Amino acid sequence: MAVAIFARRFVLKSIQLADGRKMSFLHHVCEKEDVPTIVFVHGFPLDHSMWMGQMPLLEQASLLMPDLFGFGASDPIAEGASMSSMADDVAGLLERLGIEKVIWCGLSMGGYIGWEFVRNHERKLEGLICCNTRASADDESTARARRFAASQVMKTGAGPVAEVMRGKLFSDSTIMEKPEVVDSIIKVICNSAPETIAAAQIAMSQRNDFLGLLSEINIRTLVIAGSEDPITTASEMQRMSFEIRGATFVELSKAGHMSPLEQPLLFNRALIHWLNF
Ligand code: MLT
Repeated sequence: MAVAIFARRFVLKSIQLADGRKMSFLHHVCEKEDVPTIVFVHGFPLDHSMWMGQMPLLEQASLLMPDLFGFGASDPIAEGASMSSMADDVAGLLERLGIEKVIWCGLSMGGYIGWEFVRNHERKLEGLICCNTRASADDESTARARRFAASQVMKTGAGPVAEVMRGKLFSDSTIMEKPEVVDSIIKVICNSAPETIAAAQIAMSQRNDFLGLLSEINIRTLVIAGSEDPITTASEMQRMSFEIRGATFVELSKAGHMSPLEQPLLFNRALIHWLNF
């Protein structure tokens, strides 16, 4: 209920970036001075709405929640899009909004894009939050499976993708106790354009490996994992956090791959604690 009230206070806006395409986003500017802007970058194949549980953070920070191109209400994804071009798109949005520095908070694909943002736009960063993500690239069999999935979705549409993801994204307790959370995500996936799903799968299959970059990261970092995430496991994420100097690692119980939405109170508490530390 509280989340619904917060959501009603926001209007999805859109703005034309330098290349002429319109990007949609939610933006809340915090009234307090000296608070950071957190840019929340969604996973695959979702949109800004996966961050509705983070709306209560509006007392602590300015919040920016874009729909990447092709997702949500933004213009279509560009041909040949990559993790790096998606990072540039978010940098373009920041430029248009006059935002100089942000904390990047990315989930899964949003985290993959985050590594490219670290590499190419580091001076815009004052913090990094990696949720349910990894730094390694795909191995050949995963990349092949993505290429196959990309060709399949063009024939079947998004429905079967949503059904596969229903079984992978959530903890048992979310499935039992919060069916509305599951349904909201499945609805977003079903509404995703097959072209976007295919292009994003190809882009993820070709992403760079950032394991070697981790020890060079010089940005305050928080790593958040879900105890029941089968996609990016808590142990893999903890190992990743050990590589990043001074990183804080938090594992949320009763959370799967969608930890911010499944356990918003625990997630927000961890984020606020890290922000104020
Ligand atoms: C996501 O949630 O963004 C996806 O699980 C990423 C992936 O398929 O590797």
